[in-house]
Amino acid sequence: MSISIALTKGRLEQETIKVLEKANFDPSELKNKGRKLVFKDKVKDIKYFLVKAADSITYVEHGVADIGVVGKDTILESDNNCYEVLDLGFGKCGFIVASLPQNDIFKKVGHIKIGSKYPHVAKEYFKKKDMDVEVIKIEGSVELAPILGLCDGIVDIMETGTTLKENGLVVLDRICEISARLIVNKASFKMKQREIGQFIEEIKKVINN
Ligand code: PRP
Repeated sequence: MSISIALTKGRLEQETIKVLEKANFDPSELKNKGRKLVFKDKVKDIKYFLVKAADSITYVEHGVADIGVVGKDTILESDNNCYEVLDLGFGKCGFIVASLPQNDIFKKVGHIKIGSKYPHVAKEYFKKKDMDVEVIKIEGSVELAPILGLCDGIVDIMETGTTLKENGLVVLDRICEISARLIVNKASFKMKQREIGQFIEEIKKVINN
C-alpha cells in the first residue's frame, strides 16, 4: 500500500529532505519543486505533500496524509489526535518568554499583555505559573510587538537568539525544548502497519537525537 507524507515547508524543509535521502528514499522532486505541491518518491511508493506546519497536522489528523513531519511547537499549540512516534532530532529550538530588559513581566505589577504566535502554549504556561495575563495573537515578527508597546512580553521560539538580540529583547525563561517530530494518523497506523513501521525504522537508522 502506498503512503502519503505531509512535510512542513520552510524551516524544516531542507533537513527533512536530507534525512529522507540518507534513509535511501528519493525525494529529489522536492528539490526542484517550482510551484508544485505534490511529489512522488522515485524509488518508494510514497507521495509527499508540502504544506504549512499547522496544515500538516490537519492533513494527518484527517487521514489524507498517513504521516507528518512537523515541529513540536506546532504540535503543542494544536489540539490534535495523532500519534507522535519519533523525535527527528533536527529543527532544534526552544520556547522562550522574552521582554525588553526594563520591562521584566515577572516583576510587573498590574495587567500584563503577552504577544505570541502560540496563544495556547502561552496561556498554558502562565496558567501553570498562576499568572493572569492577556494573550494577544500575532502572526509573525513577534519581536516587534513589545518594542511598539502592543504587549509587555512575548512567548516565541528561539533558535539562534539572533532575532531577540538584534531587537534588544532578553530571555526571561525557557519553557521547553522543541524539535521536528514524526506524527502518524491513528487509523493509518493500524491499516498500514507494515508500510508505516518500515518507514519509521528506515528513518530511525539515520537520525541522531
Ligand atoms: C521565528 C521566531 C523568531 C525567530 C527565531 O520566526 O518567531 O522570530 O524565528 O529565530 P532565531 O532565534 O534564530 O533568531 P520565523 O523566522 O519563523 O518568522 P516569522 O516571525 O515571520 O514567523
